[in-house]
Amino acid sequence: MLEINDLKKTFDNGSPALKGVNLKINKGEFVSILGPSGSGKTTLLRSINGLESISGGEIYFNKKKVDDNSIKDVQKKTGMIFQEFNLVNNLSAINNVLTGLLNSSNKFLSLFYLFEKNQKLKALESLETVGLLEKSYNRADELSGGQRQRVGIARAIIKKPLLLLADEPVASLDPKAANIILLLLKKINKEFGTTIICNLHQFDLAKKYSDRLIGLLDGKIIFDEKSNSINKLDLEQIYN
Ligand SMILES: Nc1ncnc2c1ncn2[C@@H]1O[C@H](COP(=O)(O)OP(=O)(O)OP(=O)(O)O)[C@@H](O)[C@H]1O
Ligand SMILES: [Mg+2]
Repeated sequence: MLEINDLKKTFDNGSPALKGVNLKINKGEFVSILGPSGSGKTTLLRSINGLESISGGEIYFNKKKVDDNSIKDVQKKTGMIFQEFNLVNNLSAINNVLTGLLNSSNKFLSLFYLFEKNQKLKALESLETVGLLEKSYNRADELSGGQRQRVGIARAIIKKPLLLLADEPVASLDPKAANIILLLLKKINKEFGTTIICNLHQFDLAKKYSDRLIGLLDGKIIFDEKSNSINKLDLEQIYN
Protein backbone atom coordinates (compact mmCIF):
# COMPACT_ATOMS: atom_id res chain seq x y z
CA MET A 1 0.00 0.00 0.00
CA LEU A 2 2.99 2.25 0.51
CA GLU A 3 6.13 2.46 -1.57
CA ILE A 4 8.92 4.86 -0.78
CA ASN A 5 11.76 5.27 -3.25
CA ASP A 6 15.02 7.03 -2.46
CA LEU A 7 13.32 9.49 -0.13
CA LYS A 8 15.49 12.44 0.82
CA LYS A 9 14.78 15.31 3.14
CA THR A 10 17.11 18.17 3.90
CA PHE A 11 15.78 20.94 6.09
CA ASP A 12 16.20 24.59 5.15
CA ASN A 13 19.05 24.96 7.62
CA GLY A 14 20.97 22.37 5.60
CA SER A 15 20.56 19.50 8.03
CA PRO A 16 19.94 16.23 6.14
CA ALA A 17 17.31 14.16 7.98
CA LEU A 18 16.61 11.43 5.40
CA LYS A 19 19.33 10.27 3.03
CA GLY A 20 17.67 7.96 0.55
CA VAL A 21 15.08 5.77 2.25
CA ASN A 22 13.59 2.80 0.34
CA LEU A 23 10.64 1.04 1.87
CA LYS A 24 7.65 -1.04 0.83
CA ILE A 25 4.80 -1.63 3.23
CA ASN A 26 1.95 -4.02 2.50
CA LYS A 27 -1.67 -3.51 3.37
CA GLY A 28 -2.43 -4.67 6.90
CA GLU A 29 1.19 -4.75 8.10
CA PHE A 30 2.15 -3.47 11.54
CA VAL A 31 5.62 -1.99 11.13
CA SER A 32 7.70 -0.38 13.87
CA ILE A 33 10.56 2.00 13.23
CA LEU A 34 13.38 1.97 15.74
CA GLY A 35 16.27 4.35 15.93
CA PRO A 36 18.08 6.78 18.20
CA SER A 37 16.99 10.35 18.70
CA GLY A 38 17.61 12.38 15.56
CA SER A 39 17.73 9.38 13.22
CA GLY A 40 14.81 10.70 11.14
CA LYS A 41 11.81 8.70 12.43
CA THR A 42 9.46 11.65 12.83
CA THR A 43 10.59 13.22 9.56
CA LEU A 44 9.84 9.94 7.76
CA LEU A 45 6.29 9.75 9.15
CA ARG A 46 5.59 13.41 8.44
CA SER A 47 6.85 13.05 4.88
CA ILE A 48 4.40 10.22 4.20
CA ASN A 49 1.33 12.35 4.82
CA GLY A 50 2.70 15.59 3.48
CA LEU A 51 3.28 17.39 6.77
CA GLU A 52 6.87 17.73 5.60
CA SER A 53 7.82 18.57 2.04
CA ILE A 54 10.40 16.20 0.60
CA SER A 55 13.68 17.10 -1.10
CA GLY A 56 13.98 14.05 -3.35
CA GLY A 57 12.55 10.66 -4.22
CA GLU A 58 8.94 9.51 -4.45
CA ILE A 59 6.22 8.17 -2.22
CA TYR A 60 3.37 6.06 -3.64
CA PHE A 61 0.19 5.54 -1.62
CA ASN A 62 -1.92 2.74 -3.10
CA LYS A 63 0.07 3.08 -6.32
CA LYS A 64 -0.71 6.79 -6.60
CA LYS A 65 2.17 9.21 -6.36
CA VAL A 66 1.92 11.52 -3.37
CA ASP A 67 2.12 15.06 -4.71
CA ASP A 68 0.25 18.36 -4.50
CA ASN A 69 -2.69 16.86 -6.37
CA SER A 70 -3.09 13.70 -4.32
CA ILE A 71 -2.03 14.87 -0.87
CA LYS A 72 -5.54 15.80 0.32
CA ASP A 73 -6.75 12.31 -0.56
CA VAL A 74 -3.76 10.71 1.20
CA GLN A 75 -4.45 12.79 4.30
CA LYS A 76 -8.09 11.72 4.26
CA LYS A 77 -7.02 8.09 4.30
CA THR A 78 -4.33 8.52 6.96
CA GLY A 79 -4.65 9.00 10.71
CA MET A 80 -1.90 10.28 12.98
CA ILE A 81 -1.14 9.65 16.64
CA PHE A 82 1.32 11.74 18.64
CA GLN A 83 3.56 11.31 21.66
CA GLU A 84 1.99 14.22 23.52
CA PHE A 85 -1.55 13.28 22.45
CA ASN A 86 -2.24 16.83 21.09
CA LEU A 87 -5.70 17.04 22.63
CA VAL A 88 -7.56 20.24 23.39
CA ASN A 89 -7.62 20.18 27.19
CA ASN A 90 -10.83 22.06 27.83
CA LEU A 91 -12.84 20.02 25.34
CA SER A 92 -14.67 16.81 26.11
CA ALA A 93 -13.28 13.50 24.85
CA ILE A 94 -16.03 13.29 22.22
CA ASN A 95 -15.33 16.78 20.87
CA ASN A 96 -11.64 15.97 20.66
CA VAL A 97 -12.52 12.87 18.66
CA LEU A 98 -14.79 14.89 16.39
CA THR A 99 -11.93 17.21 15.46
CA GLY A 100 -10.57 14.21 13.59
CA LEU A 101 -13.30 14.80 11.01
CA LEU A 102 -12.31 18.38 10.35
CA ASN A 103 -10.41 19.62 7.38
CA SER A 104 -9.73 23.09 6.13
CA SER A 105 -13.01 23.24 4.21
CA ASN A 106 -15.17 23.14 7.33
CA LYS A 107 -13.07 25.22 9.67
CA PHE A 108 -15.97 27.60 10.17
CA LEU A 109 -18.18 24.91 11.67
CA SER A 110 -15.27 23.72 13.72
CA LEU A 111 -15.17 27.05 15.55
CA PHE A 112 -18.49 26.18 17.11
CA TYR A 113 -18.03 22.43 17.31
CA LEU A 114 -21.23 21.96 15.37
CA PHE A 115 -21.46 18.40 14.28
CA GLU A 116 -24.23 16.31 12.86
CA LYS A 117 -25.85 13.48 14.75
CA ASN A 118 -24.28 10.80 12.57
CA GLN A 119 -20.85 12.34 13.17
CA LYS A 120 -21.43 12.19 16.91
CA LEU A 121 -22.43 8.56 16.58
CA LYS A 122 -19.20 7.89 14.72
CA ALA A 123 -17.24 9.57 17.50
CA LEU A 124 -18.98 7.45 20.13
CA GLU A 125 -18.25 4.36 18.06
CA SER A 126 -14.55 5.29 17.99
CA LEU A 127 -14.56 5.88 21.74
CA GLU A 128 -16.16 2.49 22.20
CA THR A 129 -13.43 0.88 20.07
CA VAL A 130 -10.78 2.32 22.40
CA GLY A 131 -12.80 1.33 25.49
CA LEU A 132 -13.58 4.85 26.66
CA LEU A 133 -17.28 5.22 25.99
CA GLU A 134 -18.00 6.03 29.62
CA LYS A 135 -15.55 8.98 29.52
CA SER A 136 -17.04 10.52 26.36
CA TYR A 137 -18.20 13.68 28.12
CA ASN A 138 -15.25 14.11 30.43
CA ARG A 139 -12.88 16.94 29.64
CA ALA A 140 -9.57 15.78 28.19
CA ASP A 141 -7.67 17.22 31.16
CA GLU A 142 -9.66 15.00 33.51
CA LEU A 143 -8.21 11.86 31.92
CA SER A 144 -5.04 9.91 32.69
CA GLY A 145 -2.18 9.82 30.18
CA GLY A 146 -3.19 6.40 28.89
CA GLN A 147 -6.82 7.47 28.55
CA ARG A 148 -5.76 10.65 26.75
CA GLN A 149 -3.82 8.61 24.25
CA ARG A 150 -6.86 6.41 23.72
CA VAL A 151 -8.81 9.57 22.86
CA GLY A 152 -5.96 10.45 20.48
CA ILE A 153 -6.38 7.05 18.83
CA ALA A 154 -10.18 7.42 18.66
CA ARG A 155 -9.63 10.77 16.91
CA ALA A 156 -7.22 9.15 14.45
CA ILE A 157 -9.57 6.27 13.57
CA ILE A 158 -12.86 8.17 13.28
CA LYS A 159 -12.28 8.55 9.52
CA LYS A 160 -11.58 4.81 9.22
CA PRO A 161 -8.12 5.44 7.80
CA LEU A 162 -6.27 2.88 5.69
CA LEU A 163 -3.00 3.91 7.30
CA LEU A 164 -2.20 4.92 10.87
CA LEU A 165 1.02 6.79 11.57
CA ALA A 166 1.99 6.72 15.24
CA ASP A 167 4.91 8.86 16.36
CA GLU A 168 6.17 7.44 19.66
CA PRO A 169 2.63 6.93 20.94
CA VAL A 170 3.76 5.46 24.26
CA ALA A 171 6.81 7.57 25.09
CA SER A 172 4.95 9.52 27.77
CA LEU A 173 3.35 6.46 29.38
CA ASP A 174 4.29 3.93 32.04
CA PRO A 175 4.90 0.32 30.89
CA LYS A 176 1.39 -0.88 31.76
CA ALA A 177 -0.34 1.95 29.91
CA ALA A 178 2.12 1.52 27.03
CA ASN A 179 1.12 -2.13 26.64
CA ILE A 180 -2.57 -1.22 26.68
CA ILE A 181 -2.02 1.33 23.88
CA LEU A 182 -0.02 -1.06 21.71
CA LEU A 183 -2.53 -3.83 22.28
CA LEU A 184 -5.21 -1.44 21.12
CA LEU A 185 -3.24 -0.53 17.99
CA LYS A 186 -2.82 -4.25 17.33
CA LYS A 187 -6.57 -4.77 17.71
CA ILE A 188 -7.29 -1.97 15.21
CA ASN A 189 -4.70 -3.46 12.88
CA LYS A 190 -6.33 -6.90 13.03
CA GLU A 191 -10.01 -5.91 13.16
CA PHE A 192 -10.03 -3.23 10.49
CA GLY A 193 -6.96 -4.30 8.51
CA THR A 194 -5.46 -0.86 9.13
CA THR A 195 -1.83 -0.61 8.13
CA ILE A 196 0.24 0.77 11.00
CA ILE A 197 3.62 2.46 11.06
CA CYS A 198 4.78 3.16 14.57
CA ASN A 199 7.89 4.96 15.76
CA LEU A 200 9.10 3.43 19.00
CA HIS A 201 12.06 3.65 21.32
CA GLN A 202 11.36 0.40 23.19
CA PHE A 203 12.67 -2.62 21.30
CA ASP A 204 10.75 -5.12 23.46
CA LEU A 205 7.41 -3.50 22.74
CA ALA A 206 8.21 -3.15 19.05
CA LYS A 207 9.09 -6.82 18.78
CA LYS A 208 6.06 -7.94 20.76
CA TYR A 209 3.45 -6.06 18.75
CA SER A 210 4.78 -5.53 15.22
CA ASP A 211 5.15 -7.82 12.24
CA ARG A 212 8.27 -6.10 11.05
CA LEU A 213 11.02 -3.88 12.46
CA ILE A 214 12.93 -1.22 10.62
CA GLY A 215 16.09 0.31 12.02
CA LEU A 216 16.85 3.87 11.10
CA LEU A 217 20.18 5.53 11.75
CA ASP A 218 21.32 8.90 10.54
CA GLY A 219 18.58 9.10 7.89
CA LYS A 220 19.23 5.63 6.44
CA ILE A 221 17.63 2.22 6.89
CA ILE A 222 20.09 -0.09 8.62
CA PHE A 223 17.85 -3.15 8.90
CA ASP A 224 14.41 -4.24 7.78
CA GLU A 225 13.44 -7.61 9.28
CA LYS A 226 10.48 -9.67 10.40
CA SER A 227 10.06 -9.22 14.17
CA ASN A 228 10.78 -12.88 14.86
CA SER A 229 14.04 -12.91 12.92
CA ILE A 230 15.58 -9.78 14.36
CA ASN A 231 18.89 -10.35 16.12
CA LYS A 232 21.15 -8.59 18.57
CA LEU A 233 23.61 -7.51 15.90
CA ASP A 234 20.90 -5.64 14.04
CA LEU A 235 20.04 -3.75 17.18
CA GLU A 236 23.61 -3.03 18.13
CA GLN A 237 24.03 -1.28 14.83
CA ILE A 238 21.52 1.37 15.72
CA TYR A 239 22.05 1.68 19.43
CA ASN A 240 25.86 1.59 19.65
N1 LIG B 1 11.97 21.44 11.53
C1 LIG B 1 13.25 21.10 11.49
N2 LIG B 1 14.20 21.97 11.08
C2 LIG B 1 15.49 21.60 11.00
N3 LIG B 1 15.97 20.38 11.31
C3 LIG B 1 15.10 19.47 11.73
C4 LIG B 1 13.70 19.77 11.84
N4 LIG B 1 13.05 18.65 12.28
C5 LIG B 1 14.01 17.71 12.43
N5 LIG B 1 15.22 18.20 12.10
C6 LIG B 1 16.49 17.45 12.12
O1 LIG B 1 16.33 16.27 11.35
C7 LIG B 1 16.95 15.14 11.98
C8 LIG B 1 15.92 14.06 12.20
O2 LIG B 1 14.96 14.50 13.14
P1 LIG B 1 13.69 13.66 13.56
O3 LIG B 1 12.84 14.54 14.40
O4 LIG B 1 13.08 13.08 12.35
O5 LIG B 1 14.35 12.50 14.42
P2 LIG B 1 13.67 11.38 15.32
O6 LIG B 1 14.28 10.09 14.91
O7 LIG B 1 12.20 11.51 15.26
O8 LIG B 1 14.20 11.75 16.80
P3 LIG B 1 13.47 11.54 18.23
O9 LIG B 1 13.63 10.10 18.58
O10 LIG B 1 14.25 12.43 19.14
O11 LIG B 1 12.04 11.97 18.10
C9 LIG B 1 17.59 15.69 13.25
O12 LIG B 1 18.93 15.94 12.98
C10 LIG B 1 16.84 16.97 13.51
O13 LIG B 1 17.65 17.90 14.17
MG1 LIG C 1 10.72 11.92 16.65
